[in-house]
Formats: sequence, structure tokens, C-alpha cells
Amino acid sequence: MKDVILPAGEYLKTDEAFVKLYPRNIQAISKRHWTPLHIVRYAATFLGATPGAKVLDVGSGIGKFCLAAAHYMPSAHFFGIEQRDYLVKHARSAQAKLSINNVSFIEGNFTQADFNNYDHFYFFNSFFENLFDEDRIDDSVAYSESLYDYYTRYLYNFLKERRSGTRVVTYHTLWNEVPREYKLVESLDGGELNFWVRR
Ligand SMILES: C[S@@+](CC[C@H](N)C(=O)[O-])C[C@H]1O[C@@H](n2cnc3c(N)ncnc32)[C@H](O)[C@@H]1O
Repeated sequence: MKDVILPAGEYLKTDEAFVKLYPRNIQAISKRHWTPLHIVRYAATFLGATPGAKVLDVGSGIGKFCLAAAHYMPSAHFFGIEQRDYLVKHARSAQAKLSINNVSFIEGNFTQADFNNYDHFYFFNSFFENLFDEDRIDDSVAYSESLYDYYTRYLYNFLKERRSGTRVVTYHTLWNEVPREYKLVESLDGGELNFWVRR
């Protein structure tokens, strides 16, 4: 049976509706790997508060955070960088179905991104798949504890060098992965969703 295409706004109403933008194999792993919409709304409101703000999602997966955030905050621009090329394809295909323009998806490892192009950052524990089997999306990339350490340190050092006023939202991420130079300004969802500002 052919899938029914809904009006774009309908997909943003619930998490169950949103995953219908994607094929069944992606739907099956959605709960574990992609940010819930009510969390996106909190994070996007904080990160995209200034008109023209450029926000980078480090490890953007199927683009759920970026697409929903761009819908909620149309005057900001959301960028996603993702190492799995087939997920970037899914993200771009969903973007076309939703006709959302203030989003760009980049294929590649986040260590290759030019961080100077962005004002604020979103991070949903992207490197955890290096530590636990059950957090793996597939077997298409190499995993190791040393890779986890390398990526975590890389992101830490990079965030540390950002200008004062840089905003970061972390979801399901250890507090010690954010440099001390950041002040925790709010914590929601039982401490799993955290809002930081560079002093
Ligand atoms: C937990 S998912 C979050 C997806 C998205 N940010 C969201 O909230 O809906 C983490 C994503 O980070 C990606 N990832 C992990 N390590 C990466 C790296 N070094 N560079 C780019 N992407 C990476 C994974 O492929 C996965 O799609």
C-alpha cells in the first residue's frame, strides 16, 4: 500500500507523526536515538532566541532536532553534521517533504566542521555508541573506547575556546563533558536536559 503524505505541519504535532516521514527501519530505532519533540522545543527556544542565530547539531542523525527546531524558530538557521551518509539522505528527504528552508545538513565527521561558522550548539550524547552495544545504530562505523575519549575531548576543547555568550544544550550527556567555563543556567527533564552559557 502507498504511504499517505500528510500536510507538513501534521508531522510536527507528535513524535509518532514525525517518524512517519521516514522508512520503517528508521521508525524502529526512533525512540532511542532521536530527540523527542517536546525536548526539541525547549532546546530550540534557548538556542535560536537571537534572530539569525546559527545553531549546529553535533551528530544530527535523521535530522529530527534540526527540522523540528527550524519549524519552531523560523528566524534562526539550524545546521546538522552527521557521519552516516544514509542518515543525511533521510534528513534531506524529510526536509523536502516538510518544505523547511532554514536547515542545512552536512555529511561528515564533526571533527571536520568549521566551528567558527556557528553561534550555538546542541548535543545529544552522540559518542555514546562507542561504549555500549545497545546504543549502536548499525555496524557501518568503527567503535572504540578510545574513539569516545578522542571525540569527547575534541568537543570539550572546542567548546572551551568559544566566545562568551555561546549557548549549548546537552541531552543525556554527562556534565563533565561541558567545560567549566560554561555556566549551567537551567536543568529540565530530571537533569537530562541542560542549558549552558559560556561565561
Ligand atoms: C543520539 S543520535 C542524535 C541525533 C540527533 N541529534 C537528534 O537529536 O535527533 C547521535 C548521532 O550522532 C552521530 N555521530 C556519532 N559520532 C559522530 C561523529 N564523530 N561525527 C558526526 N556524527 C556522529 C551518529 O551517527 C548519530 O546519528
